[in-house]
Amino acid sequence: MCGIVGYIGNNEKKEILLNGLKELEYRGYDSAGIAVLAAGELKNFKAVGKICNLENKCLDFVSEGFGLGIGHTRWATHGKPTEVNAHPHIAQFSNVVHNGIIENYQEIKKDLEQKGHQFVSQTDTEVIVHLFEENLKNFDDGLEAFKQTINTLSGAYAILLITKKYPDRIFYAKNGSPLIVAKGEGGIYFASSDAPLVGYANKVVYLEDGEIGSMDSVGFELLKNIKPLEHNKAFAQKEGFRYFMEKEIYEQHKVLLETMMGRVSQEGINLESICGDFFEGIHQITICACGTSYHAGMSGKYLLERISKIKTNVVIASEFRYANPVMEKDELFVVISQSGETADTLEALKLAKANRLKTLAICNVDNSSIVRESDGVILTRAGIEKGVASTKAFATQVMVLWILSVYIACQKQLLNQDEFKNQVQSMLQASKATKVDSKLHERLKRLSKRYLHGHGFFFIGRDIFYPLALEGALKLKEISYLHAEGYPSGEMKHGPIALADSLLFTVALMPKHLLYEKIKSNVEELSARDATICAISSQDFEVADDMVYINPGASYMEEFFSMMVVLQLLALEISIKLGNDVDMPRNLAKSVTVE
Ligand code: AGP
Repeated sequence: MCGIVGYIGNNEKKEILLNGLKELEYRGYDSAGIAVLAAGELKNFKAVGKICNLENKCLDFVSEGFGLGIGHTRWATHGKPTEVNAHPHIAQFSNVVHNGIIENYQEIKKDLEQKGHQFVSQTDTEVIVHLFEENLKNFDDGLEAFKQTINTLSGAYAILLITKKYPDRIFYAKNGSPLIVAKGEGGIYFASSDAPLVGYANKVVYLEDGEIGSMDSVGFELLKNIKPLEHNKAFAQKEGFRYFMEKEIYEQHKVLLETMMGRVSQEGINLESICGDFFEGIHQITICACGTSYHAGMSGKYLLERISKIKTNVVIASEFRYANPVMEKDELFVVISQSGETADTLEALKLAKANRLKTLAICNVDNSSIVRESDGVILTRAGIEKGVASTKAFATQVMVLWILSVYIACQKQLLNQDEFKNQVQSMLQASKATKVDSKLHERLKRLSKRYLHGHGFFFIGRDIFYPLALEGALKLKEISYLHAEGYPSGEMKHGPIALADSLLFTVALMPKHLLYEKIKSNVEELSARDATICAISSQDFEVADDMVYINPGASYMEEFFSMMVVLQLLALEISIKLGNDVDMPRNLAKSVTVE
């Protein structure tokens, strides 16, 4: 959610900032801006919409010699996505960019207005730069004035501030929002995630909450916890695909093998990052997450209860936080997050820790806030996911939960040799089942044309196919903007079936290996009410208006992963036909670091 970059050095500031913002654009793309301070001049540029609009705005701008710059790409929280609300925010002689939310900005603003400050935006961020200039009146030292400013703020933030009074340094602060400071041959860099740093920096410091400082071109080596920047975190490129989402769907069979590598073999399950006694004394699990990660968690519940016979509860992070949840000593708190920075999940994790629960993160981003906060970590190894609509991250989350279920079952000696081998075989087959078949993709391209109108979609399934139905509906909603709901198919008759008619499209998940006859009856009930049925199955189903055939495989989990790909491709193709921006759908952002 929003992206921040900063630079101190002699190279072309504008170019470094814009390149960095392009890497972060998928995180928020309502508006963007940069500010450059060089040779005593502080210039800023802002534009509504994508970075290319900003690029056009500052086409003729060049800054030579030593200087500083900050940049921001925004996902609006306070105030509409207009140019005036875009960052950097500007006071008399200073500029600021900020990720997060300042909760007490209204009282600060009121106080500053009484002191004569004039505000132009509707944002919470603008108070930071005005408060800093106000505090400078009382302090001889810029850093002291900045510290005083930050200490007045409550909320979550990653902040970069530059001022003409200190033209050699960037002031920075971090609390609850990620911020990295880095060094390379060209100078000093700041970024809210490491993607913009690749190719520029080789040493990084992941700042901790509560860190406030000012950085010039020589101060980097004084920082603690300097690490090398991992260069294998290469830039994600589209590699011939139309969209990142499409590429990420096609990558799933490879990344699932990565997820399993070194962990799953015929000899046993080895979770390298978890010590052998991690699950001692654990008799129940609470899984906590948001959005797609929550759907993976729901799928995990079926696996954990069925395979490892452990009571599992799944909660939405934003609900958990304020519900006064009862937490038991023998409960493991598992958080699932692609980004590792989702504010709701992170705060829920902190709450569980405060209640002394043991915690485990299933996450795609090493060194992320959620990873750093947790007692144990299993990385999903999906690689950088750029499409805002999550695909391969979901696949790998479900795979990790499956591996975990078998691991716990083995520790509890619940599986005999054959059962264990079947699970391993099934995992391998399930990863293979995600390899996109070109004929299937062509079929979905054609089929998608028939699903662009109507007044909505039901996605229905039973058991573990219910969370998959929820995920299919979410994928479609996110990128097509069509109304879609996921339901357990047995629940239709308790109300939702009232909506059934020919313009209500039902996508039915009908696995051969799990409750086939039960779901068949549920879908027949819908068909009898004239609903249009698109069935995804390996079995012929006479009442379906459209069939999408999958390979039955040998297990329901193979069918699960095959159907997952069908749902992702269907959403992708409908979105493309509707002319939408698949990778950066309206109103969304890749990582949601605000409450
Ligand atoms: C997925 O398609 C969504 N963009 C969204 O629901 C996402 O899964 C959710 O915001 C949680 O994000 P996280 O996995 O990074 O914590």
